[in-house]
Amino acid sequence: MPKNDNIDNIIDHKLFTEDDIHQMCVKLGKQLTEDYAGKKPLVIGALKGAIFFLTDLVREMNVKEEIDFMDVSSYGDSFESSGEVKIISDLATDVKDRDVLIVEDIVDTGLTLKYMKDLLQKRGAKSVKCCVLLNKEANRKVDVEVEYYGSQVGNEFVVGYGLDFMNFYRNLRYIGVLKPEVIKLANNK
Ligand code: XMP
Ligand code: MG
Repeated sequence: MPKNDNIDNIIDHKLFTEDDIHQMCVKLGKQLTEDYAGKKPLVIGALKGAIFFLTDLVREMNVKEEIDFMDVSSYGDSFESSGEVKIISDLATDVKDRDVLIVEDIVDTGLTLKYMKDLLQKRGAKSVKCCVLLNKEANRKVDVEVEYYGSQVGNEFVVGYGLDFMNFYRNLRYIGVLKPEVIKLANNK
């Protein structure tokens, strides 16, 4: 970590402003309202990164939905996927015969999302789709369909609006690109 971990010292530049994010939520919410009309989807937030996105997204959806959360992790504190996915905290809801919508902050390698989708299918969900805010498509390692997403992003590490750097900075209202030297410093510590 830099000596002074003031936010200005770790963010290289802003990628999405609060308004950009709001527009993405409005657009996705409208689409999901149409696609889930007449259904009662179970919206599953992937902890912890998706909490801000989920709360804004569901309030743009005019659908009778239920919300639950699941903490599935492939990362730990490092910046590259360990390749191993594990359930840290499971759902309270039975997904059998439910239309499930997974909400994620970002899809990177796709390992986490694929694991969640396969698991929920195996548990008997009627349909399993996902809505992610950011799609890092160039970094995909497994083939997984991303039905809805807010924006594509390049292969850079982003923080804010739920996305973290070593579990910090989730509370930023915007999404910013982390300075590469911050990652280097953290990797060498
Ligand atoms: P996979 O590789 O399984 O990983 O698709 C998805 C999870 O990895 C984390 N991730 C990031 N977190 N900035 C972050 O704060 C990033 O740029 C980033 N890329 C991946 C995130 O937790 C996501 O759910
Ligand atoms: Mg996540």
